[in-house]
Amino acid sequence: MKLLPIFAATAALASSAHAWAPSSSAPSRPFARLSMASVTEGVDYAVPERYCTDHPNNNVPPHIAALVGRGLHTKADHPIGIVRAQIEEYFNSLPEEYKIFDAEDPIVTTKQCFDDLRLEPDHPGRSPSDTYYITDDTLLRTHTSAHQSMHLKDGYDAFLCAGDVYRRDEIDSSHYPAFHQLEAVKLFDKADMEGADGLTGEDWTKSPECETIAADLKQVLEGLMDHLFGETEKKWSEDYFPFTEPSFELEIKYQGEWLEVLGCGVVHEEVLDMAGRGDRRGWAFGLGLERLAMILFEIPDIRLFWTEDERFSSQFEEGKITKFEPYSKFPPVFKDIAFWVPEGFVENDFFEMARGVAGDLVEKIDMIDEFTNPKTNKSSKCYRITYRSMDRSLTNEEIDALQDSLRDKSAELDLEVR
Ligand code: PHE
Repeated sequence: MKLLPIFAATAALASSAHAWAPSSSAPSRPFARLSMASVTEGVDYAVPERYCTDHPNNNVPPHIAALVGRGLHTKADHPIGIVRAQIEEYFNSLPEEYKIFDAEDPIVTTKQCFDDLRLEPDHPGRSPSDTYYITDDTLLRTHTSAHQSMHLKDGYDAFLCAGDVYRRDEIDSSHYPAFHQLEAVKLFDKADMEGADGLTGEDWTKSPECETIAADLKQVLEGLMDHLFGETEKKWSEDYFPFTEPSFELEIKYQGEWLEVLGCGVVHEEVLDMAGRGDRRGWAFGLGLERLAMILFEIPDIRLFWTEDERFSSQFEEGKITKFEPYSKFPPVFKDIAFWVPEGFVENDFFEMARGVAGDLVEKIDMIDEFTNPKTNKSSKCYRITYRSMDRSLTNEEIDALQDSLRDKSAELDLEVR
């Protein structure tokens, strides 16, 4: 089971649990012009107008803008905040002192999110089909790695940074366009790395110093997994990220299945250079909090994290991992929609439109049929939408009404409903 893949693998984890713990490096720099209260410490990011603007290339729909600033990772009694606190507890037990950040501005620049991390100009992660843009050069962060360079520039040598991240994606029980990551970076003492001074590329990655860093990274992460899951089976594989070299992914065995939980690696020398820290070496990882919380609390559907239903929230307590008791499973309603697709059709646009119309009632969208008419060369796709509420039974009438407005809206994307 792959988890929220995007930059080759996935990632993010989280830690502490204090509401809007002030971030010493206040969400900084270029955003002042974007809005009002943007960049001071402990700022409230729940200001939808910051995200949904009338910039011609803004592609943030209102239902996404409404999620920003919910701060689930800072809520002590929410599963995301609880997992984050457990991770932080582990890092607090380590000899190095990790600075904790959790209130950076979710709006970052293309430079912070991509250039500073060596993502090529044509990297698919930059595409507006995958990413929510505010303007041409500002966006909702797609990963917490977007803050690495800023904290490194500010002089931090070891830090954790947790936050909500946003990706346009497929829709199913483990994918949601907003989720949470926790990032960590640790630089090593100069003195311990002297033997590799001046080494770059393969000379560096083959050096004993680079191996020392990779070994430390793996040991810290294995310790973290044991802290979260108890002794558990783990598997390392090589991975690729433009900002780490070498890169790895870690999978853990959970209920008989291998689950990818994080991406990590030795920070690329050019990333450190660009952050003005070219004289240092270190590691970084990023881990997905929803993935961990779904496993630990046995939460079956990623939408549940966002529900404000008491029957969900009342089940969790600060500092405790407890098994989620489904308060009921309401029946699904299936509806199919088929259309001729225009050239350059972007599936994520359609998924997003469906979420825009029906919100979290959309549990899943599967493509169930596809063909091309050999005479006209037109292609048709048929999608099955699974509607299900987590809180109540749906009526046929309300779903028919939603499906009707989905048909109407399809015209806006040049989809010719059949
Ligand atoms: N940012 C990566 C992702 O979201 C994860 C990662 C973080 C990988 C740090 C390496 C180092 O997929």
